[in-house]
This record gives sequence, C-alpha cells and structure tokens, in this order.
Amino acid sequence: ADLFRPERGNSQGWDLHDSRDLSNIEDARTPFRTHQWQAAPLTVSPAADGPVRAVMNPALPGDTVGLVAEATATHAAQAVADARAWDVPVADRAAALNRAADLYEAHFGELFALLAREAGKTPKDAIAELREAVDFLRYYAAQAAGLDAPARGVFTCISPWNFPLAIFSGQIAAALAAGNGVLAKPAETTSLIAHRATQLLHQAGVPVASLQLLAGPGRELGAVLTGGASINGVCFTGSTATAQRIQQVMAQDTAADAALIAETGGLNAMIVDSTALPEQAVRDIIASAFQSAGQRCSALRCLYVQEDIANSLLAMLYGAMDELRIGDPWDHATDVGPVIDARAQADFAAYIAAARERGALLHHLAAPEQGHFIGPAVIRVNGIADLEREIFGPVLHVATFKAAEIDAVVDAVNATGYGLTFGLHTRIDSRVEQVSSRLCVGNLYVNRNQIGAIVGSQPFGGEGMSGTGPKAGGPAYLPRFAQCDRIAHSA
Ligand code: NAD
Ligand code: ALA
Repeated sequence: ADLFRPERGNSQGWDLHDSRDLSNIEDARTPFRTHQWQAAPLTVSPAADGPVRAVMNPALPGDTVGLVAEATATHAAQAVADARAWDVPVADRAAALNRAADLYEAHFGELFALLAREAGKTPKDAIAELREAVDFLRYYAAQAAGLDAPARGVFTCISPWNFPLAIFSGQIAAALAAGNGVLAKPAETTSLIAHRATQLLHQAGVPVASLQLLAGPGRELGAVLTGGASINGVCFTGSTATAQRIQQVMAQDTAADAALIAETGGLNAMIVDSTALPEQAVRDIIASAFQSAGQRCSALRCLYVQEDIANSLLAMLYGAMDELRIGDPWDHATDVGPVIDARAQADFAAYIAAARERGALLHHLAAPEQGHFIGPAVIRVNGIADLEREIFGPVLHVATFKAAEIDAVVDAVNATGYGLTFGLHTRIDSRVEQVSSRLCVGNLYVNRNQIGAIVGSQPFGGEGMSGTGPKAGGPAYLPRFAQCDRIAHSA
C-alpha cells in the first residue's frame, strides 16, 4: 500500500469560507439554476435517431436538468470504424489538454451547476471534483512529454456517475495525452456533464475523430465498444461486476495485446485504536463514510473501534452525525446530498430497514422526504466478513476489536478480496508499520480521512478485486496507454 499522512496537496480551489469566493461561485452558477441542457452523440458520422432520455435532479423531483439523445449499438459500431489515433506532436496534445483545463476553469459556474443538479454534488464536493478534473488534464499533459513510446491506437473509456467530471476527464486525458483516439462512454445518469466536458475538449483543439462521445446504456453499447479488433485498450472505472463482464468480452473478442485498465469497487475499513485522538477520528470517520453521501469507491464501509474506547467514541460520532445537514446540494449549508436515483434510494432504505429489524441499527438520521435522500446510518456488525457487498451509500458498519486482534482485523479485511483504501487512527508508530506491512490495499491513510486522493501526490488505485492498476494520477498510469510494455519486452 502507498501510505499517506495528512498533507496539503496541489488541489487547492475556491474557499467556501471566503465571502468573495462564495459570491463568485453564486454569480457564476445562478444562470444555470433552471437551465435545461441538451446532449447528443458527438461523433464523426451523424447519429440516426436514438432514444431520448430526460435527466432529473436527484434532489428535486420535477426539476428536469436536460435531455440526452442516446447512441445506439449501430451508431457505436460506426464510431469505432471512424475512430483515429491522435497523431500530432506531443507538445500539441499537451497544449490542447492545458487549454481544456483553462476552459473547464472558465466555465466553472456551469460545471458546478451540472454537478449539483445532475449528480447531486454539494458545493464542497463540486469544487473538489472540478479541481481534480483540471489537475488530471494538466498532470497527464505534463507527463506526456516524458513518454517515449507510440500510442496503442484507440481506447474506449467507460466512466461511472459518481465522479462524472473528474474520472470521465482523467481517463480521456490520459488516453489522449499518449496519442490515442478515444471512444468515451459516460454513465447513463450523468451524460449531460460528460457532453459539456467533451464540447470543451473539442473547443480546446482535440479533433472529433480522436474523441467521440457515445452516451447510452452500458450493456448495449459496452459489447460494441469493448470488443473487436479496432479496440486497442479499455479504460474502465465502475463496479467490479461490470469490469468482469468487460474482461470476458475482451478475452473472447479483442486483440490479445489490448490493454484493460480497470478501477473498481471496495470494501474499505478503518481501524481506530485507543491511542487515537477521538475528535479527529470522528471528523475523519464522518468525512470518509458520509461525504458525497458515501458514494465514493474510497468511502469507509466498516469501522473497527478498539473495545476500550468504543462507547465514548460512538457517542461522540452520533453527536457529530446529528449536526449534519442533509438536503439540496445547491445549498452551501448542505453536508450530505441525495443518492443518485430512486433505485439506489430504495436499495439502501431496504438495507437499513433490515438492520433495524434484526436490532443492528445503531444510529440513523432523518432525511427529506422529497428527493432521493437517505439519512446516514450506522449498523453494528461482528466484522467486515458480515458485509456481503459494497453498499454504495451513506451506510457505515461498525465492529469492535481488542488490542491483540489487530493482525486478525487486517487479515479479515484482506480476505474480502478487495483492496482499495484503508484508514488507520493511532499514535503508535510501530502500529503503522504492523498494519501496512500486512495489509493488501492500494491506499492507506494514517490519521486523516480516507477519501479525496490528490492527483500527482497521492496516486489512487486498488489491488485484487478493486482494480488492475496502475494507479490514476501517478507516474505509472500514462505508460499503460502507450506501447511501453512492448518496447520493454523486445529490448
Ligand atoms: P457500473 O459498473 O454500473 O457502471 C460504470 C460504467 O460502466 C457506466 O458507464 C455503465 O454504463 C457502464 N457499463 C455497464 N454495463 C456495461 C457493460 N456490460 N459493458 C461495458 N460498460 C458497461 O458502476 P456505477 O454504478 O456507475 O459506479 C459505481 C461503482 O464504481 C462502485 O462500485 C464504485 O466503487 C466504483 N468506482 C470505482 C472507482 C475507482 O477508482 N476504483 C471510482 C469511482 C467508482
Ligand atoms: N479518487 C477518489 C477518492 O480518492 C475516488 O475519493
């Protein structure tokens, strides 16, 4: 595991405590409060008419954010045939990606509005996401200069809804920086912001043949975009189950040397031992489990608290949870926004109800009735092995442990087969070594929260069922989009 202690990164953005920044944000996003966007495939060949889907605000029933004309499988096949590598000097590619970063910043009001109304992001989350997207563009543009290998050809980039700007842009920026052509397939629920970002990338100078956007259902478009001799690589971020499906399609249908870069789910744990600073631990537990309504792959799912301090720490945690404001993500005072859609809301509500039924629900906040809200919940478990799947929402599981059981806790976390993030709160230095030497995860965070990796200084990615690597936002990522491995092999 890469081990991260508290630090300030390069991802500085607007300050929500600064009244000038606040009024800038308000001025810039207010025109988009009721705007309705329109999106359609952005491809070389015109699209035959596909189905049109309305995008609804997950926080405000009745607020139509826009309309998306989806691509069909036929259209995707045509886009594959039209796709071209971006065969221009590396300096030109880097300049265009840097111009795109400037355009993202220039259009921050519109992008913040889309992040709030389409994806349910609070201002704090939206700012962090825009900064991350800009960081990815600039970071891969800078890295490209040192990449001394030809592009692979054409990459399909498939992204999730929970980072609809940052992950969408990061995948594309890496593929383009290395000189590939890209077929971008955003998540169905967040196609409007993907469309707007692609327009900005085109405006910055990326040719359409080297960046085509196809929004639409993953299952239908996925097979066309991930199989076949014209696809030289797939960069996927999303659930482990979908990654496994893509892997099967590629194994049957794609050239043997096509690359698969998959970043997937996690069952992430945190240990808080009896030497931890309780106020700090509580703050970091809340951020890790409930920020972004728990809809982060990195989010804390299972907290292990040392038995001696469990009662007092949990009492403090419930008190702090009671202070959280749950509601419209447009509002600066909101801490926890909605979950992404009605299906997710129903799934989490049923999960929490089942825990209540069996007497395991320890704490649960009320949430607004209108909109797809779920009040943050804490559920008692014996250990991480009780978690049957990744609950991708504001649900925290809690177990206790005795000091002598730390190795057993780490072994149980490893035994899940996932290995994304892990949090450790302790003041014992040797315990950091004890845990890190045994643990199989990508990112271990010590005495801080375990979300929000910073591009360039905290490369992000998992092990086992959490991903193939290499880590995004780190030096090993870009070479995977080029033919470096072939060069190394023949040397
Ligand atoms: P998902 O797997 O349902 O969808 C992700 C993308 O895959 C979407 O664009 C979807 O349309 C597409 N897709 C669906 N079926 C497909 C198929 N058969 N072939 C090709 N593409 C297909 O995931 P999601 O619900 O959008 O996102 C949440 C998941 O993503 C969680 O499991 C979370 O942990 C994970 N995630 C991981 C990271 C990471 O960096 N490790 C980051 C964010 C999210
Ligand atoms: N990179 C995102 C995080 O660290 C997923 O939370």
